[in-house]
Amino acid sequence: MNATTHAQEFVTLLKSLRAVRQFAGKPLPPDAVRDIHEVIRWSGNASNRQAFQVLWVEKRETLKRLSELPGYAKHLAGAAAGAVIVSLLDSDELNAFDEGRISERIGLAALAHGIGSSIGMLMGGGRKEAARLLGLPEGHTVRTTVSLGYPAEGALGGGRRKPTDELVKSVS
Ligand SMILES: Cc1cc2nc3c(=O)[nH]c(=O)nc-3n(C[C@H](O)[C@H](O)[C@H](O)COP(=O)(O)O)c2cc1C
Repeated sequence: MNATTHAQEFVTLLKSLRAVRQFAGKPLPPDAVRDIHEVIRWSGNASNRQAFQVLWVEKRETLKRLSELPGYAKHLAGAAAGAVIVSLLDSDELNAFDEGRISERIGLAALAHGIGSSIGMLMGGGRKEAARLLGLPEGHTVRTTVSLGYPAEGALGGGRRKPTDELVKSVS
């Protein structure tokens, strides 16, 4: 495959990442899970401190309990797996950046295997409650989760975007 074809395939993958919130009840194959975990490992992070952990949840009861916490992660209930990102830097700004970067890359690695995903943010008391539920030490909170699973029929919506030239401006 030449470089141009390769670039086009990769750009198509980047552009086609949509939020998927309804999942088919089909487990994730081990090779896909392994690839996603490796992509997490190779995600660049602030100062390469690697001050994060991703808790990988497949137990239905835990996914359900997380989905019921205050926030916007109800789709965890039907997911085949949930990635719960625990970031541990002192700077909230850098933690948020790391979480964004990791969650995006989880979604892209999943999509490369035909697996759908959506970010789900926990809010308010849900953040402390999730940390407690997952057995994290006192003082920890969790805000960013990613639901993963093969898309259910009709799950692919979204895709509304402003024109490129409204979002990207060339300046001199
Ligand atoms: C920073 C960030 C936070 C998000 N939080 C949530 C969330 O809490 N719950 C949710 O269902 N989707 C969440 N999303 C997914 C967005 O709603 C989704 O990316 C956007 O609507 C575009 O969807 P589309 O690509 O399917 O068109 C989040 C996305 C980002 C980048």
